Amino acid sequence: MAKELRVGLIGCGFMGRTHSNAYRRLNNFFPVEHRAVLKAICDTNEPKAQTYAATWGYERVETDWRKLVEASDIDLIDICVPNVAHRDIAVAAAAAGKMVGCEKPLAMNVAQAEEMVAAVERAGVPNMVWFNYRRVPAIALAKQIVDEKRIGRPFHYRATYLQDWTISEDVPQGGDALWRLDARVAGSGVTGDLLAHSIDTAMWLNGPITRVVAKTETFVKERKHVVSGQREPVLIDDACMFLAEFANGSMGTFESTRYARGRKNFNTFELNGADGSVYFDLEEPEYLQYFEYKQLQSGKKAESHLTGWRKIHTTNSEHPYMSHYWVPGTCIGYEHTFLNALADFVEGIESGKWTQPDFRTGLETQKVCDAVIESARTSQWLHIN
Ligand SMILES: NC(=O)c1ccc[n+]([C@@H]2O[C@H](COP(=O)([O-])OP(=O)(O)OC[C@H]3O[C@@H](n4cnc5c(N)ncnc54)[C@H](O)[C@@H]3O)[C@@H](O)[C@H]2O)c1
Repeated sequence: MAKELRVGLIGCGFMGRTHSNAYRRLNNFFPVEHRAVLKAICDTNEPKAQTYAATWGYERVETDWRKLVEASDIDLIDICVPNVAHRDIAVAAAAAGKMVGCEKPLAMNVAQAEEMVAAVERAGVPNMVWFNYRRVPAIALAKQIVDEKRIGRPFHYRATYLQDWTISEDVPQGGDALWRLDARVAGSGVTGDLLAHSIDTAMWLNGPITRVVAKTETFVKERKHVVSGQREPVLIDDACMFLAEFANGSMGTFESTRYARGRKNFNTFELNGADGSVYFDLEEPEYLQYFEYKQLQSGKKAESHLTGWRKIHTTNSEHPYMSHYWVPGTCIGYEHTFLNALADFVEGIESGKWTQPDFRTGLETQKVCDAVIESARTSQWLHIN
């Protein structure tokens, strides 16, 4: 009989749905020993939690996350709430001996993230940050290409993460729907929300970032706060650009904003090396673009009229994760990145080699995020400790 992975999920919003879907689908697509059991769902908004339970099949509903942490019939606490609540839940869950999954960014700041790392390491419990973009097959293929040393000496890493949903000055801040605009709940703006993804991907592909210098901007200085009803200063970064140095000697540029009219979730990166380059764009998620520069035997030119970028449709069974899905040429979607992440997490538990990114790796991204915000505040280069 299959072992059970009994899940207690906290937060019935956007991420709660993607994770619930992953638990429901896990055993349909991945031959893992554990069967995901949706034991309990928690949200401070009880009607929302009741609807969730009915939709996704959770056995019971709670409105206080402590009930899940204390429950003896739950193995994994999955944190899908706004950033301000990550630390308290994760620390308590680890102390109770639960496995912990946490949405990104890991925490509000480095100090909180360090507490969370200490808690899971002290308890010795499996833990994961849901940086789901690592699980896009095309991005995982980029990692494979880098690991196969096909890029050669890296020179440039270039990332953008652009949206356009806060341009109107009439968009309020705070409350259940717009907590991302409230620094007291989100920690930061686009840096923690969007660039955390870009930084995690960048360091996975291109190694540690050692130094940054940043410029942030808050275009709309005051917005009505949903809770107080008053106009209040906006304390998040609406946009952020930073330069980075990587430990391998390459240079990075990162740009993120919620003011790029027409861009909804424009997440791209390009890595350029001496022997090749890779380019990814989340708006065409099944493609990885790859340029291969081949040094040929002397007397022959390295490039010809047939040289060019390859647009690889990452749907063959040879591509990462794809052997679990359909026939070549048929695509998977955004939701599968969470399913792939969950499968990696469960396979890690079963093999004893826990998957990445864990909280300690999430802390490294948090360090870059904090340094970026501080660099923008002080207008200086900052080293990442
Ligand atoms: N991996 C990704 O690509 C990705 C995408 C979006 C959001 N996120 C992250 O996921 C987390 C949640 O974001 P979201 O978009 O799902 O938010 P959301 O606003 O859609 O949902 C959050 C839910 O949490 C509930 N909640 C708030 N505080 C709570 C508490 N103390 N106890 C119980 N329930 C509580 C709210 O009522 C709401 O239903 C954030 O950390 C965010 O940064 C990650």
